[in-house]
Amino acid sequence: MTDLEIRLDPGERLSPDEAIAQDQALLRELEPEAARLYDRHAKVAQEWFPHDFIPYRLGRDFDKEPWTPDQPRLTGVAQTAFEIGLLTEDNLPSYHRLIHGMFGKGDGPWIAWVGRWTAEEGRHAIVLRDYLTVTRNIDPVMLERGRMTQLQQGYDHDSPGTLRGLAYVAFQELATRIAHRNTGRYSSDPVADKIMVRIAADENLHMVFYRDILGAALKVQPSAAVRAIVDEVLAFEMPGAGIPGFIRKAAQIAKAGIYDLRVHHDEVLMPIIRHWRIFELEGLDAGAEEARRRLAEHLQKIDAAATRFEQKMLTSTVPRIASAG
Ligand SMILES: [Fe+2]
Ligand SMILES: [Fe+2]
Repeated sequence: MTDLEIRLDPGERLSPDEAIAQDQALLRELEPEAARLYDRHAKVAQEWFPHDFIPYRLGRDFDKEPWTPDQPRLTGVAQTAFEIGLLTEDNLPSYHRLIHGMFGKGDGPWIAWVGRWTAEEGRHAIVLRDYLTVTRNIDPVMLERGRMTQLQQGYDHDSPGTLRGLAYVAFQELATRIAHRNTGRYSSDPVADKIMVRIAADENLHMVFYRDILGAALKVQPSAAVRAIVDEVLAFEMPGAGIPGFIRKAAQIAKAGIYDLRVHHDEVLMPIIRHWRIFELEGLDAGAEEARRRLAEHLQKIDAAATRFEQKMLTSTVPRIASAG
């Protein structure tokens, strides 16, 4: 416990004013750590260029030779995974708005991170669209219409407060890293695989920044951080959830083993929860203890559902990969 957080009982909530004050205290307290993690990121992040990854020799003019469904060399599920991956990256303006709202204050390391992160994320949609267009692996008209729908709809996330927002982005960056990485592996196209390895490396560094800043927050406001993490795990949804047909497409992606409940539990939730040592923390308030019980129950349920799904998939005819993370 520190003097920077108010202790709560189960079911009790902070008033809006208390929540804002606690949030501001947290952002101030974590500013030196944000600066350290930003510098670390800038040192290890490698510069890369989307054009280096695209086989432009395959390009043909679409006015002379329009796209036809027989042109893609990717299988159906690989196409779907690329479509979801790109449309998700396309929604960057919404993510920027949310992240800027959460910690884009002042002129210090927080806003520097928001800018750096946004610039790096922008490259992902560029390289994916160039690849898909030049190789004709997806209908470019469908892709552009999807982008228009997706951006006009935008994306919102009900994340009251910095802690909940940080929990979301930590899990989401890791989820995206693995979804991208497995999409590349599933594609059986060395060009696509190389692109996805490159993007996944970016997502990993993003995850590490958010995971470690929230790790520092767990020392400043441990009970509030645990409550926020549990709220987020229980409500977690991929950022592409608003894409038309997402449920059907996500089901195909799960059947292919690119992103299913087993991946979500074993490779996304558990590694981060273990890293934060959520189940070993001591001195939490009663509200956080209650949240931790709900988290344990929830993780058990996901694990059991993942096992049921795996058993069902034993008789599936959909080609499936074993995830390597
Ligand atoms: Fe990305
Ligand atoms: Fe990212």
